[in-house]
Amino acid sequence: MNKRRIILDTDPGIDDALAFLLLAASPEISIEAITVTHGNTTVDKCAKNALQIAELCNLVNVPIARGASEPLVKTLSVAEETHGDGGLGYAVLPEPALKLSASPAVELIINLVHKYPGEITLLCIGPMTNLALAILRDPSIVPLIKDVVSMGGTIHAPGNATPSSEYNVFCDPHAFDVVIRAGITFTLVPLDVTYECLFQKRHMDRIQSKNPAVRKFIDDSTRFYMEFHDEYQSIDGCAINDPLAAALLIKPDLVEYVDYHVTVELKGDHNVAKTSADHFKAMGKAPNSKVAMKVDVEAFMDFFIERVNTL
Ligand code: BDR
Ligand code: CA
Repeated sequence: MNKRRIILDTDPGIDDALAFLLLAASPEISIEAITVTHGNTTVDKCAKNALQIAELCNLVNVPIARGASEPLVKTLSVAEETHGDGGLGYAVLPEPALKLSASPAVELIINLVHKYPGEITLLCIGPMTNLALAILRDPSIVPLIKDVVSMGGTIHAPGNATPSSEYNVFCDPHAFDVVIRAGITFTLVPLDVTYECLFQKRHMDRIQSKNPAVRKFIDDSTRFYMEFHDEYQSIDGCAINDPLAAALLIKPDLVEYVDYHVTVELKGDHNVAKTSADHFKAMGKAPNSKVAMKVDVEAFMDFFIERVNTL
């Protein structure tokens, strides 16, 4: 089987962790590196989480690199009310034996894209600071990247960071702008589809991973995440945003896509980081992204549960 080579760029984070599990359970995917960014919590906490989760799901031969500690322009945001002080809800994992890679994230991205020209997919499930920095440092990587699949933004759904913006883009809208304007084949997986994918107690009851530590991790982390959704958003269950983006690498037809020219608002008192899709082509520009707009929720949930149950 020809595996799809990816770099997982991430800010773990509860739903990021669930994406690690899904990818670790997917033989179609070869994770060439995990690059960590600020986002759900500080980059140092996210990096430690990445090591712990990688160990939990046996991703032990993948380089894991620390990346950007702050956004390109904005000040740092963290979402500890959503993901807990440490970033993984109520889950407590053993101190990691794995160590971070000696190469920082941006260097690793640049080197891997040159090593595998035309083959690397960047799966970005956090703020896109690392990839933006890589592009700014070495623009020659742009035509060598196979594609970018990004969990981020919102088209018609309400924002989860401001009334109109999604958290990953909100954390670093300038980075998102650099990447979406670079001319790389770009798939956007916005809140319009990810907030349909609510992992609920009835789904947790179906998790029977072979490794009891995996089941316990999913239970402890999602319980916190569900409490957040209940308290702040009156939602029953938790949106597993990042695993949906990961699943699309393997099963792209879980969603329906529309080609749009997407832009991001960089200034504004209330609408900073708002993403917009030019539905009626008012800007007269060619589409720059394929946007997931409709999802087969139960097919995705079945796929997610089936895969993590093999761990
Ligand atoms: C995104 O923001 C983060 O909190 C999640 O991990 C996800 O990547 C959802 O808006
Ligand atoms: Ca994330």
